[in-house]
Amino acid sequence: MVRSTPRRALPEVNGDSHHYPLFRQPLCIHPAVIARGEDVVSGILLQSCYKYMEDIALTETEVVCRITTRIANGRTPYDFSRKLQQVALTVVTDENYHAYVARDFLDQLSQLRAAPPIAHPKETELSVALAETLGRLPHEFHDEFELIAVAIAENTLTREIIDLRSDRKLDDAFRLSLSDHLGDEAQHSGFFQTFLGEFWRQVHPERRAILGRALPAFLIRYLGVGIEQQFDLAVLGTFGFSHEEAQEIVEDCHDGFTLGPDHPMLGNIVRLLQTAGIMSDAPTREAFWHAGLIARGA
Ligand SMILES: [Fe+2]
Ligand SMILES: [Fe+2]
Repeated sequence: MVRSTPRRALPEVNGDSHHYPLFRQPLCIHPAVIARGEDVVSGILLQSCYKYMEDIALTETEVVCRITTRIANGRTPYDFSRKLQQVALTVVTDENYHAYVARDFLDQLSQLRAAPPIAHPKETELSVALAETLGRLPHEFHDEFELIAVAIAENTLTREIIDLRSDRKLDDAFRLSLSDHLGDEAQHSGFFQTFLGEFWRQVHPERRAILGRALPAFLIRYLGVGIEQQFDLAVLGTFGFSHEEAQEIVEDCHDGFTLGPDHPMLGNIVRLLQTAGIMSDAPTREAFWHAGLIARGA
């Protein structure tokens, strides 16, 4: 949706409501964190909310806009209709606006709460996963892999916003910002689903096998918690936990994380890839199975 929305001023934040869903920040249900009291729990949730907004701004501008601009400007070796290119341009418009709104939200909230954000990582799980995957692929496959990656990211982002809104204790400001964003993202995920199918139909079978085989390692890194763990260590440090205490808490919270067919975000991505025809290629299915991301025969 091309912009015409007035600036949204943050409502006063509600008394005991959360700035970020508890289920997305396991640090806040760790006994050692709960023992430090409600102020520490809500402070960590507030910093996690800031990080979410900053991640949105980075992802929208540096990944989604950058790659989608190539689609809009016809800078891919594939044929897409003029109509599809124009819709891609509306996505770019929306995403730059989302980045602006996310940073505006962060600034308004930090002023309301008189709590500045800690230093944010300049990388996201997506940017790291993408850089590592491109590092393993020959250069002539980079542009094509990025087209798949942006479609996956846009689909996942939409699913994530829907999940985030499900916490009933979320404050109104965060819920409203998610609702604004969701309106656009629901449209984008439809666009990228169509785009991915049209793109994949044009890719030569030999190239398909190479691109498809690169997907499992990308997804394992993208849906992992590497950057999240670094952030958690930093945030615990600012709330007075020693490095050793912080490490123990972070290990407790993230240990045992394995990406498998039951992971809801992965299930969502596999469905996207199936609909686009990407999972129809035997070498790709085989690679997913070997990586433990789908069940045999799926
Ligand atoms: Fe967005
Ligand atoms: Fe989007």
